[in-house]
Amino acid sequence: MCFSLLGLAGCVNDKSVDLQPESTSSTTSSTTTTTEKSETEASSTTTKPSTTTTTRNTRDEDPNVEKLVALTFDDGPYAPVTDKILDTLAKHGAKATFFVVGDRIDRYQSTVKRASALGCEIASHTWSHKNLTKLTAAQMAEEVNKSVNKIESITGKKVTLVRPPEGGVNDSVKKNVPYPLIMWSVDSMDWKNRNVQKNYNAVMSAVFDGSIILMHDLYPQTADAVAKFVPELMAKGYKFVTVTELMQARGISMQNGRKYSQAKP
Ligand code: NI
Repeated sequence: MCFSLLGLAGCVNDKSVDLQPESTSSTTSSTTTTTEKSETEASSTTTKPSTTTTTRNTRDEDPNVEKLVALTFDDGPYAPVTDKILDTLAKHGAKATFFVVGDRIDRYQSTVKRASALGCEIASHTWSHKNLTKLTAAQMAEEVNKSVNKIESITGKKVTLVRPPEGGVNDSVKKNVPYPLIMWSVDSMDWKNRNVQKNYNAVMSAVFDGSIILMHDLYPQTADAVAKFVPELMAKGYKFVTVTELMQARGISMQNGRKYSQAKP
């Protein structure tokens, strides 16, 4: 969702406008992380500390229920990085969602096909990474439809999600983009960090059950951080699923023109 591809530093932090209607908790992601840790630590004992959190429910009490997380990558494909990420996902049986830029696909067709064959979800980040809020309805339709058609011609699978570049959403985008608009709840800031440890810390400190993590498959440090945190989070009980799988698992029926940034249990 960044301008990083163009070398212009600038991402819109869209967390402040999270209108995700399914959220019933006002706790922040960092609070949730703390909660998860305390529950993990408490799981070996028969008594659990009482807390004031509102995020606990029966799912959290069942050690057999996996925590879900949707890892998402924007602005690719870019084979030198995307393929490294796919190596990690394949090695661990994890899945992710790639919001690809349509006009990049032909250069990296085999990478896109490989991601799709691995069970990853390929979705639209528009045709040429334009901020949709600055376009007419007709221009918006072209940006979205052209990318969707390209992806579907390569993968043979239907595209069902759009992530607007720069997180740019307004009433016109909601009205004219006939797909659910997928935002995020954990921002790795990898486009700015360009540092494995910082990327890793950003994810590990903020991840929660049902989170959607934002990364960009353009930087080697992103791929290296993924190789580090995927097995660690799996060891902590997280399962890496696509955005569609996450929403389905949580019983959320996504609607066109609405924003979704997480799916807590
Ligand atoms: Ni982008």
